[in-house]
Formats: sequence, C-alpha cells, structure tokens
Amino acid sequence: MLVGSTVIMCAAASSSSHADLETILVSEQAIRRRLKKLGSEIKAVYGEEEIPLVAIIHCALLFAADLLREIPNPVRLDCIRVSSYRNETTSQGKPQLMHSLSLDVANRHVLLIDDILDTGKTLAMVVALIRKLSPASVKVCVLLDKKGRREVPFEADFVGFEIPDKFVVGYGLDFAERYRNLPCFGVLKPQLQNPPEWA
Ligand code: IMP
Ligand code: MG
Repeated sequence: MLVGSTVIMCAAASSSSHADLETILVSEQAIRRRLKKLGSEIKAVYGEEEIPLVAIIHCALLFAADLLREIPNPVRLDCIRVSSYRNETTSQGKPQLMHSLSLDVANRHVLLIDDILDTGKTLAMVVALIRKLSPASVKVCVLLDKKGRREVPFEADFVGFEIPDKFVVGYGLDFAERYRNLPCFGVLKPQLQNPPEWA
C-alpha cells in the first residue's frame, strides 16, 4: 500500500547551487518537509506500536537517521549491509548480503528503509531474507522511486519522492562513494559520472 509520494519532474527542478550537479531535484528544506509527512504516514499505519526499523547501509544512512526522528512511535533499529553491485552508474549482477540482522523480528511488523528503489533487485532480495525470519509483516519505505527502471516487480509502501530516470547523488546517495554529504539531492553532471581518475 503506497500512502503518498511527491512526483518530481526534471523540468521543474531548480538550478544547481552545487558545482557538480546539473540540477537540484529536491532541496534540503523540501526533504525535511516530506520527511515530516512520511513520519505521520508511518504513524497512521502502525498506530501506537513499537516498530523494528531495518536500514540498508550505507546509502540509507542519512535518510534513516532523519526519518527516525519524525516517527513518534517507539522504535528499535538495526542495519543490514548489502554489497554494491553497481558498475559506474548502472547496476549489474546480483546484490550480495554482507552483514545481516541481529534484531529479533519474529512476529513483529518490520519497516525496512532504503534510499532508492531502482531495478528492485536489492529490496526484493532483502525482503525475501527478512521474511525467512518470520516477521508478522514487512513494509518498505524508500526516499526515492525511479518507477521506470524496474527489472523485478516491486513496490514500496511509503515513498518520499518519485523521480525520473536520472542518476542522482546527495543526501546519502553516492557516485563512487562521493557526494553522500550533500544536504539536497540532484542529478550529477553527465561528464562527471564516469571520470577515469575515480576508477
Ligand atoms: P536496485 O537497482 O533497486 O537494486 O538499487 C540498488 C542500489 O543502487 C540502490 O539502493 C542505490 O544505493 C543504488 N542506486 C540506484 N540508483 C541510484 C542513483 O541514481 N544514484 C545513486 N545510487 C543509486
Ligand atoms: Mg542503496
């Protein structure tokens, strides 16, 4: 069940204030506003109960840290680490589990948090893995959804923003481990996407 998301069109994007971005898709203030609403949407679904939250690191680090503070429920947090299977700005191969959960999620309603739903391979793999731990349910919250890129059928329950098929960086999302610390996110200039010196 998707509660509500904001669709971002590139044409409506503001001009860049970061030298390496072609456009800023969503500003720091707009992210903050959307996270407040996401917190309320999550509360409306989970009621008063404690939520076991599982964040996929590293990419969901910033999003999870900020979202957590907008969820009024009691929470327990764990992280799962999945190897990046991306080569440059496209994904290839299969995601691999590097570090699993230690939280006991049996019979609990788990909320899984990730940065972006792209091909769907990572989240499909992680949800299947969590389901083996006998949770009462698993719901998924992503900051970004690139709907046009799906290779496996997968929909998130809570989505921050639907974005076009562009390679984005910032607010936890990286290119070659760079740009995670930008407070907004935007489209990386094409000429910076595969510089040979970053290989
Ligand atoms: P998947 O293709 O849905 O399995 O997504 C795999 C991972 O690729 C995501 O969790 C992100 O970390 C990363 N990813 C996908 N699209 C982008 C992007 O536009 N910028 C940065 N990372 C991305
Ligand atoms: Mg990721």
